[in-house]
Amino acid sequence: MKVIILLPALLLSASLQVSANDIQMSDKHAMLECDSCHNSELAHVVAPSDQSCLECHGPMADLVAATHTERQPHDTKVAPNPHDSAHYGTTMSCFACHAEHKPAKVFCDTCHAFDYQNFK
Ligand code: HEC
Ligand code: HEC
Ligand code: HEC
Ligand code: HEC
Repeated sequence: MKVIILLPALLLSASLQVSANDIQMSDKHAMLECDSCHNSELAHVVAPSDQSCLECHGPMADLVAATHTERQPHDTKVAPNPHDSAHYGTTMSCFACHAEHKPAKVFCDTCHAFDYQNFK
């Protein structure tokens, strides 16, 4: 009986172990520990909060300023500020674009064709 009760727990810890070993990090963050971003009680199970990104890359106002561009509406040569956009303002989650363990993609380009040169 004991074996049957223990089995699910063993399987669960084994699968968490696998995800910690197999997880892919982006090149830009290869030097970071898991806990630099996953600093909650649900570490390594759910996505981190945007606030954890902003602890190193914020405050938000500075990030918005860093990617500010002088752009007129419908300009096809200059891309708009991704951190303060027409539709979403400053509210969009960081990893809608900067995914960490899968390829990063600029969400705007689902619909547009903005050319961001420095996206990572
Ligand atoms: C513990 C600090 C730390 C945390 C937390 C962190 N980063 Fe980074 N990030 C770095 C460092 C260090 C670099 C590489 C040096 C640099 O380019 O600033 C970097 C690089 C980047 C870059 C490329 C910067 C550039 O100049 O092109 C992006 C984009 C980025 N991080 C986004 C994020 C996002 C999104 C999160 C949250 C999921 C996050 N970071 C969490 C430290 C951190
Ligand atoms: C679901 C589709 C969709 C997504 C995703 C999307 N947009 Fe748009 N956007 C549109 C549509 C539709 C218009 C109105 C038609 C137009 O003007 O091109 C528009 C208009 C705009 C305009 C005004 C037109 C211009 O070129 O000046 C800007 C600026 C803009 N979007 C920026 C963004 C940014 C930045 C993002 C990402 C943060 C984004 N959009 C994501 C569909 C989208
Ligand atoms: C709509 C997509 C999108 C979202 C959401 C987004 N970013 Fe970015 N981010 C970009 C793009 C695109 C660039 C590159 C801009 C360029 O090429 O000029 C960038 C650049 C950066 C940089 C480098 C800035 C620099 O100094 O050049 C950092 C750091 C960064 N993002 C962090 C974040 C963090 C933290 C969040 C959440 C608070 C976030 N981003 C949300 C698209 C996004
Ligand atoms: C730079 C910040 C950052 C670091 C460091 C980081 N993660 Fe993540 N993690 C994320 C983000 C952002 C997500 C949301 C999904 C995505 O973008 O891939 C996530 C999601 C996850 C998930 C949920 C499953 C998924 O893919 O959505 C697991 C599990 C995970 N991370 C494990 C780890 C482990 C293990 C480490 C250390 C080897 C680690 N993470 C380091 C940012 C980070």
